[in-house]
Amino acid sequence: MGTIRLDKCLADQGLASRKELREIIRSGRVRVDGQTETHPERRLDPDAVSITLDGVPVGYRRFHYYMMDKPVGVVTATEDTRQQTVLDLLPTDLKRLGLFPVGRLDKDTSGLLLLTNDGEFAHRVISPKSCVKKRYYAEVEGEADEKDVLAFSQGIVLRDGTQCLPAQLELLGGGCCVVTVMEGKYHQVRRMLASRGKPVLTLRRLSIGGLRLPEGLEPGAVLALDESDLCTLFNC
Ligand code: URA
Repeated sequence: MGTIRLDKCLADQGLASRKELREIIRSGRVRVDGQTETHPERRLDPDAVSITLDGVPVGYRRFHYYMMDKPVGVVTATEDTRQQTVLDLLPTDLKRLGLFPVGRLDKDTSGLLLLTNDGEFAHRVISPKSCVKKRYYAEVEGEADEKDVLAFSQGIVLRDGTQCLPAQLELLGGGCCVVTVMEGKYHQVRRMLASRGKPVLTLRRLSIGGLRLPEGLEPGAVLALDESDLCTLFNC
């Protein structure tokens, strides 16, 4: 990659605010290739040098990827003056990374939400052209049946006339089902089921592509994703 300022390089890792990092660098706590560097504006290629802070190596990553088990009652937004957002749930160091949610889960929906600072990645996950499947577990009023399965497979027309892409509906019985879609229209799964006379009571996203939430991740907690997780996501 090209060169970037030393303070930005450290800020990209969420180590402290850019202002704090300028002070830290000036105070002599940062070394570049073993030499103390006191100039925050020093330009360098982070892939070509080794950087330490207080003697601890600082690995460089421009892009960051996390999964969260989004709890019900939190809005999928980067900021909101009145309601708690998914970003409010992040620990302080992650709040500095410029993360944003990939797509959207409704306030009343729980489950797998991706957070990143990589716009191209987010677009790839969201775009219907990428054919990344999003699976949802739903509890509905009434009982979905084989006619609903057929209607989903043919592409539901929402009550406002919006045509959806073909989707999959799996019947679990007891008012429960799993819906798989490859697009993300506003309130899509709720509106698809409502259009079949089966209003949603509970909705939870189970997976995106090949990526599922691991057992034991607390609601609102996040887990960093690595290259192999991204491969799993895109089934590559
Ligand atoms: N579809 C919905 O209706 N709600 C969500 O949160 C996600 C998909």
